[in-house]
Amino acid sequence: MVTYQTISVWAGLLTVYLLCFAFIAFVGYCLYVRRIHKKYDHIPGPPRDNFLLGHVPTFLRETNSERVIHDKFLEWAETYGPVYRINSFHGVALVVSCPEATKEFLMSPKYSKDPFVYKRLFNLFGRRFLGNGLVTAMNHDIWYKQRRIMDPAFSSSYLRGLMGTFNERAERLMERLEEIAEERITANMHQLVNCVTLDVICKVAFGVDLDLLKNYNSPFPSAIELCLQGMVHYIRDPFFTLFPRNKKKVQEIKEAVKLLRTTGSQWINQRKSAVENGDDVPKDILTQILKTAEELEANNEEDHELMLDNFVTFFIAGQETTANQLSFAIMELGKHPKILERAKEEVDEVLGTKQEILYDDLGKLTYLSQVLKETLRLYPTAPGTSRWLHEDTVISGVKVPAGCALIFSSYVSSRMEKSFKDPLKFDPDRFDPNAAKPYFCYYPFALGPRSCLGQTFSQMEAKVVLAKILQRFEFSLVPGQSFNIKDTGTLRPESGVLCKIKYCSQGKN
Ligand code: HEM
Repeated sequence: MVTYQTISVWAGLLTVYLLCFAFIAFVGYCLYVRRIHKKYDHIPGPPRDNFLLGHVPTFLRETNSERVIHDKFLEWAETYGPVYRINSFHGVALVVSCPEATKEFLMSPKYSKDPFVYKRLFNLFGRRFLGNGLVTAMNHDIWYKQRRIMDPAFSSSYLRGLMGTFNERAERLMERLEEIAEERITANMHQLVNCVTLDVICKVAFGVDLDLLKNYNSPFPSAIELCLQGMVHYIRDPFFTLFPRNKKKVQEIKEAVKLLRTTGSQWINQRKSAVENGDDVPKDILTQILKTAEELEANNEEDHELMLDNFVTFFIAGQETTANQLSFAIMELGKHPKILERAKEEVDEVLGTKQEILYDDLGKLTYLSQVLKETLRLYPTAPGTSRWLHEDTVISGVKVPAGCALIFSSYVSSRMEKSFKDPLKFDPDRFDPNAAKPYFCYYPFALGPRSCLGQTFSQMEAKVVLAKILQRFEFSLVPGQSFNIKDTGTLRPESGVLCKIKYCSQGKN
């Protein structure tokens, strides 16, 4: 007969076994971490905060005190050189700022993306998020097939055809800015350009008209914001979900992901029905997304999930970074009246009073291009990328064993004196067509096969919006606002760039 006493003896024994097992596992893990340290500790790097956590406490301190993590990487690069080591538990990553290595690792298809970051973003707090979409696809074949199918929606002939939409959506911003000027209220430029870029991507990518400058209650801008916040916590803070105080935030983030994926599902189904009914559908990004799933020939459910992965990828990647670039550009122009005047003069000369900016006009706005490039040098809105080292190698004279991640930060290398003289000065002349080209130290769109697919798209859009603002308005920055950078994974201006706006008629004539 099993007595209460026997049960408690067995329960006691089980507890002892479990404790022993946990203890042995813990010791085993510590030994493993020690082995990893031994393997990589010849590589210079900042002292670890903690044997097990490595540099995680520093990352958390920087993130929680709202500083830009890449400033820490920059400080360490100045101290520890062009390749240095950071540790997180048993993981090791090297921050690389040497141009030759940047060229080798980013330009070659041989090195895949770093699974610690990109595989992790498959989900966000347990909900499928970027999945196997273009940014996060780890498997070369899956990525390559998607990229090949998506390319036509980014060809120069297709992009030319988008000028009408860029103009039309930017005109809506001009109308809103006129109202703001008349009412003499403060413009939050980041909020405004964010609405334009989201409007543009929804129209050109998915054929949907959101009209966010009028539709203030749209849930999408805050859903994107929550997803970005979620990505930062999810990647940088392994303890985030352990604290009950973060439960609400995690729930909100999961709801935001759900909203984006449910919306994607609705829009995809509408497009599928239109195709089945023989309706004329645009050859836009959504059409290509449908083709991607067909081509990869997964099962039906996985097809649909993959389409949603790319929907979310374009919804986020296709909008936020351009809005951030535009707001930083307006901030820097506001701080530098002479540069602003020169940019305005060029716009007046090229555009005069005409409303519709043509594709050929864009090529003539060379100084404006320089302003936009210099903006991304100081503020690479998507600041870094990382690769996985599969084989032993030597980087900048340092022997590096396989099995670690390599972090490349355009923020770090663009802000180093060895890359650009007086690096913190905003100087668009660095990108004068006759100036020497930066050598693998400036890569705001990443480089090589996994570089940004939307680079030309985004710079056409940014030029149209900025040129129209300069053509029609005078703006001044509201005094006392911060010019700090907010690190939300992507970088954006902390203050939102608050401006007073004056309508100054179209062009000089
Ligand atoms: C100023 C604006 C932009 C910047 C600075 C930027 C920057 C970047 C960077 C750095 C990457 C590499 C990401 C990584 O390796 O983790 C990337 C990838 C990507 N971007 Fe952009 N991006 C911008 C705008 C856009 C736009 C407007 C679109 C779409 C319409 C877009 C679509 C993509 C896609 C699909 C990828 C993944 C490419 C691949 O792996 O094949 N981006 N972008």
